[in-house]
Amino acid sequence: MRFPTQKEPKIVYGGDYNPEQWEESTWEEDMRLLKLAGVDILTLNVFSWASLQKNDEVYDFSRLDRIMELVKKHGFFVCLATSTGAHPAWMARKYPDILRTDFEGRKRKFGSRHNSCPNSPTYRKYSVLLAGKLAERYKTYDNITAWHISNEYGGACYCENCEKAFRVWLKKKYKTIEEVNRVWDTAFWGHTFYDFDEIVVPNLLSEHYSENGTAFQGISLDYARFNSDSILECYKLEYDAIKKYTKEIPITTNLMGFYKPLDYQKWARSMDFVSWDSYPYAGEDPAQIAMKHDLMRGLKDGQSFALMEQTPSVTNWQTYNAIKRPNVMRLQSYQAVAHGADTVMFFQMKRSIGSCEKFHGAIIDHVGHEHTRVFQECKRLGQELFQLGGETLSAVTKSKVAIIFDWDNWWAVEYSTGPCNQLRYYDEVFLYYKALHEQNISVDFVSVESDLSNYSLVVAPLLYMVKEGFDQKLKEFVKNGGTLVVSFFSGIVDEHDLVTIGGYPGKLKELLGIWVEEIDGLISGDENSFEFLGKQYPAKLLCDIMHTIQAKAISFYQKDFYKNTPVITKNSYEKGSAYYIGTRSNPAFYHAFFENLCRELDISPTALTSDHVEAVRRVKGDKEFLFLLNHSKQEERFFIQFKTYNENIGKEAVNMLTKEKMPIETTITLAPNDVLIVKINS
Ligand code: GLA
Ligand code: ZN
Repeated sequence: MRFPTQKEPKIVYGGDYNPEQWEESTWEEDMRLLKLAGVDILTLNVFSWASLQKNDEVYDFSRLDRIMELVKKHGFFVCLATSTGAHPAWMARKYPDILRTDFEGRKRKFGSRHNSCPNSPTYRKYSVLLAGKLAERYKTYDNITAWHISNEYGGACYCENCEKAFRVWLKKKYKTIEEVNRVWDTAFWGHTFYDFDEIVVPNLLSEHYSENGTAFQGISLDYARFNSDSILECYKLEYDAIKKYTKEIPITTNLMGFYKPLDYQKWARSMDFVSWDSYPYAGEDPAQIAMKHDLMRGLKDGQSFALMEQTPSVTNWQTYNAIKRPNVMRLQSYQAVAHGADTVMFFQMKRSIGSCEKFHGAIIDHVGHEHTRVFQECKRLGQELFQLGGETLSAVTKSKVAIIFDWDNWWAVEYSTGPCNQLRYYDEVFLYYKALHEQNISVDFVSVESDLSNYSLVVAPLLYMVKEGFDQKLKEFVKNGGTLVVSFFSGIVDEHDLVTIGGYPGKLKELLGIWVEEIDGLISGDENSFEFLGKQYPAKLLCDIMHTIQAKAISFYQKDFYKNTPVITKNSYEKGSAYYIGTRSNPAFYHAFFENLCRELDISPTALTSDHVEAVRRVKGDKEFLFLLNHSKQEERFFIQFKTYNENIGKEAVNMLTKEKMPIETTITLAPNDVLIVKINS
C-alpha cells in the first residue's frame, strides 16, 4: 500500500464500509464513529456493480461520487474496490453466458456472489469496462491508497465456454493431441483422443466420482491449473484497465490463505502487494493462524502484506459463531502484524440490517452507538496503532528455515487415488510447521521457484510431485551445506502426475540415498511404531518400506513383516544432509525431531518463552521488533534476554506501546491474550 498523504506513517486501520446499504442521512454519524474508533482507511464499493450499471450503456456513479467526497472530506484513505465480485441480475438475464455451470453440471441461475464464469465474454467485457471507468473517474483522488479488484476470487466453472477455452489452453500448452495423450496417459482405459474437440471438462458428469476422486489425474490436474489461470486472467484484465489511469496506485485482490482452487504463488506475480482475509474459528490453534500469515508473506518473497479483512468480534457463516473474547481481536491483529502485515483491517465497519451477514461482527453494531465492548476494543487498538507509529512498516522476517509449498503438488496429491485417500497436503504441512512454530522457530513458506540458498534447513512435506529441475535445485542446496527434510510419499511423479520409474522416490533417490520399495496404507486405527532418541512414536497412515542405499538408517519399524527396516534415514550428501521421514507420526515426534535438528544446525528460536507465548520478529535496518503474544487463558511469566537475530545481546530495548525502556534481561508477565512489542536496537 502507498500512503500518499499521510504525514506520519502508521499501520492503516479500517476496512469494508458499505454506506450504499444505508440512508444517506446516517453517513455523517458513521464518519464520527469511525474517526472515534481511530479508523483511517475505508474499503469502498466492494459490491455495487448493479447500482453502478443499470444496463449495457447506462452507468450511474452519482452515489459513489458522494461517498468518495464524504470520506475525503473526513480525511479517510480509500481502498477502492471494482465491485466485480457479483454481477447484476439484468446482466445474467440478458447474457446467460455469465452464469457458471457447477461441478455437477448444473447451469446456475442468478444468485449469491462470486458466481461469474471466468471465461464468459460478457463478464470479461463488462468487468474490465467498469474497472476502467472507476479508475478514470477517481484517478485524481489522492486519498486512494490501493485498488481492490473483485473480492475473494474463487470456485470453478464447467460451462461450455470454459470447455472451449480449456481446449485452447491445452493446445497452447501441449501443441499436439499426441502430447496430450502422453501426459494424461490416455492409453489407460482407452481414452485416446484424436481431436482437441473430443476433450470435455472433468467433473461429475465425466471423469469424477467425487471432488477429489477422478479416473484421470492428468486432466483433472490440468483443469485445476486452467481454472486458476482463467480466473487470474480476469484479474489481470481489470488490472491493466486500471493501470491505464493510475500507474502509481498499487493493486491487489484479497486472498484467503490456504485456498486450494487458486495457485496463489502464480497469482502473486500479478499483484502489486498481497492482501488476505483472516477468519480464524474460535479456539483455532494459533500455529495454524500463524502458518496462513507466513504463507501469505511468502507469496511475494517475504514482502509485507495487508490484512484486508478479519472480524472485530464474530462471523456469521461458521457453524458455531463464538464471539472473540476480550482482547483476542487485538491479539490476532498483532499476530498478523508480527508475521508481516502492514495493515489491520476488518470486515466490516457497520453491521448490515438484512441478508446473510446481518449477524456478522462490525465496529458499529446494530445498536448504532459507541458504547459497546467491541467498539471500545476497536477504539483502543486504533489508539495504540497511532502510538505504535510506522516503524514496523515494511520490516522483514528473517528465517533460517523454509517449508516448500506447491499448489500443483497439492492438487496432484489429493487427486491421487491411493495409496491412502485420506491424505491431505495441508495436514501434513501443518504437522511440520507446528513443530517448528511451537519452538518459536521462524519459518518462511517458499515455492519450488524460490531461491533456497539463504536457508539452513528446507523442509518438503509430501513432495509427491517433483517438477522439472527442482530435484537439481534441492541437490545444489544440500551440496552447498544445506539440510533437507523430506517426508514419505515424495518424489513419486513429475509435473504431469506421471510416475518417475526406476524406484521411489524417483528423482530424489540419489539425494536421499534410499529406495522405497512398497508403500503400506494402514487402515484407520492401525499403527506401527519406531524409536527416536530413546522414545517411542507411532507410524500411521502410510508406511514407506525402504532400503538404504547410501543413507544411514536412524529409526526402524518395530512391527509387522517390515520390522527392523528403516523408517527415518539421513544421507550425507557433499557438504549437507538429506533426511527422509518414511511415515506420518504424532506431534510429539515432529517436535523432538526438529528440536534435535535445529540444535545441531544452530538454528535458534526467536526467543525463549513459556509454552503458550509466541515470539515473532521483524527486522528493519538496525532495529528489530519482537512481538510476544500470549495465546493462553492464563497469565504467563518467563525470563527473557533481548537478543538480536544474530544472537547478540541488544543494545537497548523499548516497549513500543508505552515507549518505556526495558532492561535487556528481565522477567516478563503477560496477561491472558496480552501482547508485548519490544524494539531492540542492535
Ligand atoms: C469474506 C468477504 C466479505 C464478507 C466476509 C464475512 O471475507 O470478502 O465480503 O463476506 O467474508 O466473513
Ligand atoms: Zn464457465
